[in-house]
Amino acid sequence: MQSFNPLYHMKQIKQQFSVTYQYATYFTENLFAVENPLLAKAIVAESPPAKCLFVIDSGVVEKWQHLPQAIADYASAYQHQFLLAATLIVPGGEQAKNSQQTLHNVLAAINNYGICRHSYVIAIGGGAVLDMAGYAAAIAHRGVRHIRIPTTVLAQNDSGVGVKNSFNAFGKKNFLGTFQPPVAVINDSRFLETLSDRDWLSGISEAIKVALIKDKDFFEQIERDAAALAQRNLTAMQALIYRCAALHMEHIATNGDPFERGSARPLDFGHWAAHKLESMSNYRLRHGEAVAIGIVIDCLYAFHAGYLSKADACRVINLIKNLNLPTSAPELFEKNADTGTYQVIAGINEFREHLGGTLTITLINAIGSSFEVHSINNTCMEKAIDWLQPSTN
Ligand SMILES: NC(=O)c1ccc[n+]([C@@H]2O[C@H](COP(=O)([O-])OP(=O)(O)OC[C@H]3O[C@@H](n4cnc5c(N)ncnc54)[C@H](O)[C@@H]3O)[C@@H](O)[C@H]2O)c1
Ligand SMILES: [Zn+2]
Repeated sequence: MQSFNPLYHMKQIKQQFSVTYQYATYFTENLFAVENPLLAKAIVAESPPAKCLFVIDSGVVEKWQHLPQAIADYASAYQHQFLLAATLIVPGGEQAKNSQQTLHNVLAAINNYGICRHSYVIAIGGGAVLDMAGYAAAIAHRGVRHIRIPTTVLAQNDSGVGVKNSFNAFGKKNFLGTFQPPVAVINDSRFLETLSDRDWLSGISEAIKVALIKDKDFFEQIERDAAALAQRNLTAMQALIYRCAALHMEHIATNGDPFERGSARPLDFGHWAAHKLESMSNYRLRHGEAVAIGIVIDCLYAFHAGYLSKADACRVINLIKNLNLPTSAPELFEKNADTGTYQVIAGINEFREHLGGTLTITLINAIGSSFEVHSINNTCMEKAIDWLQPSTN
C-alpha cells in the first residue's frame, strides 16, 4: 500500500470567473410584418444566416391561423439573416410543462433540424410554453440560443422577461429548470387582443405583486386604471406591462442574486400559496389567478399578525376584486384528514424545500414596502384563510 502523501493532500487549484449577461426586452406591434425588422435584427450570427426553430403555442395558432405562413414569409424576406428550420406547434397552457412527450418533441426537433449553439429556438406563447421551450433550449447541447416572444399579459410583464425556465415533474411545479437568460424578449401587444378575459386579467396579479413590494406609485396607477384594464383597454395594458417588466428586470439585475442562490425571493410575494393552489386545483386555476389569491392570503396574514393595517389589506383586496380577479377558491378550504389543518398551508414547507435554505417569506407592512419573515404563525394563517370562507366574505 502506498504511503499517504501529505503534500498532495494540501494542494488545491482555485477557480473564479464571472459571466456578464445582457439582453433587452423590446416592445412592438405586428412583429411579423415584413416591414418590421426587429426580430431579424435580434438574430445575430457570426456567419449568417442563423438557423431558427420556432416553437409555437397551439392557443396562439388557434387565434392567429396565418402565423406559421407569416413567419415563413418573414423568414424569406430576411433570408440573409436567418434560415427557418421549422415551426413546431405545441399544446398551450400548463400541459406544455407537464407533458414529457411535448418536451421530447422539442428536443427531437432541435436534434432533427441541426439546431446548434449558434442557432436559435424562438418560442412564441404563454408563460407555460416559454418555460418549457426555454428549458429544452437550455439543456440541448448545454444551451442553444433562445428568443422569447411572449403572447400573454403574464408572460409579457413577468415570466418571459426573466432568466428562468422550467418544467413540472413528480407532481411538483417547476421541479426541473435552469437559469438561462434569453438572447432577447420581444413583446408584441397585438397578440394580447385574442386572449380570453381570464388570461387578459390574470397577468395583472404579477403587476399588483411587484407594485406592492416595490412601488406605491405603480400600485396607484393600477388603481386608477382598474376600470380601463377590466374593460380591455390596450393602452392601459401596455403601460402596465412596460412598468411591470421594467421592475422585474431591474430587480433581477440589481438585487445581487439573479440566479436565486440565497433563500430570499421577494418577487415571489404571494407565491407559496399560489403554487400550492395551482397544483391542488390540478391547474384549473391560472398562475395569475392563484397569485391573486396568494396575495390576498398574505395580506390578510400580515394584518392578523399585526404587520399591515386593515385599511391597506382592504385596499389590496378591493383592487383585486375591481379587476375581476379571484380572491378565493374552493381548494383553499380543503383540510388535512389527519391534522385538521388547511391543506394549502403545507405549501409553505414545499416553498422552502424548492428554494432551499431558511424559510423566507416576503410580506408587506405597507403598500410598496416589503420585509421578510422566517416563520409563519399557523393560527394567524388559519384566521386569514377562515376570513375567505364564502360565508364570512
Ligand atoms: N419563468 C418564470 O420566471 C415564470 C414566472 C411566472 C410564471 N411562470 C409560469 O408561466 C405559466 C403561466 O403563464 P401564462 O399565464 O402565460 O399562461 P399559459 O401559458 O398557461 O397560457 C394560458 C392560455 O392562453 C393561451 N394563449 C397564449 N397566448 C395567447 C394569445 N395571444 N391569444 C389567445 N390565447 C393565448 C395558451 O394556449 C393557454 O391556453 C405558469 O406555468 C407559470 O409557472 C414562469
Ligand atoms: Zn408568478
